[in-house]
Amino acid sequence: MSKQFYITTAIDYLNGPPHLGHAYEKVITDVIARARRSLGREVFFLTGTDEHGQKVQQAAQAEGTRPQVYADRLAAQYQALAAKLHLSNNDFVRTTQPRHQAVVQAMLRKLHDRGDIYKAPYQGFYSTKEETFLTGKDRRPDGTWDPFWGEVAEVVEENWFFRMSRYQQWLTDYIQADPSFVQPDYRRNEVLGFLRAEKLEDLCISRPVGRLNWGIPIPFDPGYVNYVWFDALTNYYSVPAALGDPAAVQPLAGYLPPPASGPAAPELWPADIHVIGKDILKFHAVYWPIMLQATGAPLPKQVLVHGWWQKDGQKMSKSTGNVVDPLAVIDEWGVDAFRFYVLRELDIGPDGNWTDAGFQARYSAELANGLGNLVNRSLAMLKRYRGGVVPARHDELAPDAGKVVAEVQALLEKNHLQAALVGVWSLVTRANQYVDHTAPFKLAKDPAQAKRLDEVLYNLAETCRVLAVLLWPFLPNTAARIFAQLGLSGAPDQFSAAAWGGLPAGHALGEPAPLFPRKDPPAAAKP
Ligand code: MSP
Repeated sequence: MSKQFYITTAIDYLNGPPHLGHAYEKVITDVIARARRSLGREVFFLTGTDEHGQKVQQAAQAEGTRPQVYADRLAAQYQALAAKLHLSNNDFVRTTQPRHQAVVQAMLRKLHDRGDIYKAPYQGFYSTKEETFLTGKDRRPDGTWDPFWGEVAEVVEENWFFRMSRYQQWLTDYIQADPSFVQPDYRRNEVLGFLRAEKLEDLCISRPVGRLNWGIPIPFDPGYVNYVWFDALTNYYSVPAALGDPAAVQPLAGYLPPPASGPAAPELWPADIHVIGKDILKFHAVYWPIMLQATGAPLPKQVLVHGWWQKDGQKMSKSTGNVVDPLAVIDEWGVDAFRFYVLRELDIGPDGNWTDAGFQARYSAELANGLGNLVNRSLAMLKRYRGGVVPARHDELAPDAGKVVAEVQALLEKNHLQAALVGVWSLVTRANQYVDHTAPFKLAKDPAQAKRLDEVLYNLAETCRVLAVLLWPFLPNTAARIFAQLGLSGAPDQFSAAAWGGLPAGHALGEPAPLFPRKDPPAAAKP
């Protein structure tokens, strides 16, 4: 076996139902995973839920249930979202699973034995809402705390600390030497700026059970549970370790039970890409590499940071009702319309803004009138004029298709998903213009033009086939439907099949059907 391409998402808190931000991150990660598979790599895609901490404990208490019961119910919603988004994840990790807890405890024990974890009194201001201790720098100029932090209380208690400070110079040098470790560049500069300007504090990694018992017990001190970030970050490592991946197991030798013998373990670690949102950059680009370095484990190759979505120019917030419910959008418009909008609207990096009007405009122009119309009229004409039988090969659009295929491949290899989608649509537009210029409906009326009509129809059908292959990572459902309508078996999931000329003469089409039904404008448009 060889090393797989291992890609992860952040694992979601169970604070409430999934929203647009959660869904967006999962979709971009899925596109990268599918693209790499299509380009020939074996890929392991991990997503999951972050289930410990004060908020879950409190929410369960408020309901009068056990935290595990509450977590099970919420985690099921996140698993349902993954299925609804057509994610191709290979596993779903929950931080309450024993396989994860065993690895967190093994790592804690090793770091404790090495002297990297120590106990000390801790005094600080604690925000329960954000589950974090605050420092003087978090105060507003008038000395008060931003309401964002909720209730802030002064707390003094003994806790366990991870000696992060000793790794500051090492990490600065590491990030300096490897420009691809944090992407995009402006996020890397943010991390380097922070590392140069501020002294890294040791990280408090425990909570006394009296205050928080919904966590992984500290294995060498029964009075404490592990604080959520150490627990959460380790998910990326605990799944490979639990699957017996030697690169993940070996650094914890003597701390983990030997892996059960079974089929050959996958080779996953180190992760190739951790996809995360900008708000959790410091945890992933500072805490996590230091935790791994201290454990003696290789570092992930890249932390890829996306921006945040707003709705109608405002922060999404449950309390004001300014949210996008991905499930409702998918129920109304279909999963690929949702995937298309978020991928086409927002590049990985900057912040984005969801508007219902923008969504509907893209649906109508690019999906219904662009791609949908091209595929539907191309296949309908082939059906009507040639009984659905593919004519002899003809290469008039081959150079256009070939150029786009090469461009999309290069962009996918760089995870430039938005630009790749723009590239795919340049072929959609080109082919729609080709229909308008060649006017096959006119050619069909003139028997002397039969050969020309054959040529045009071949070029259109073959372009639809190439598009299905190019679309697979982005819109897997649509890509599969185009393939089925072309009468092709299997999935368009291998990029190499985008080479021109795959449709053989004499091949019989399947049934054409609209891919993106046109929707009537809403009866009463909102102001
Ligand atoms: N549990 C932590 C992550 C631990 S990873 C070891 C967490 N969870 S979260 O549910 O709050 O966020 C999960 C992901 O969703 C994060 O990457 C976060 O940036 C992303 N998003 C949350 N809201 C978002 C938007 N409004 N827009 C885009 N992504 C956003 O943080």
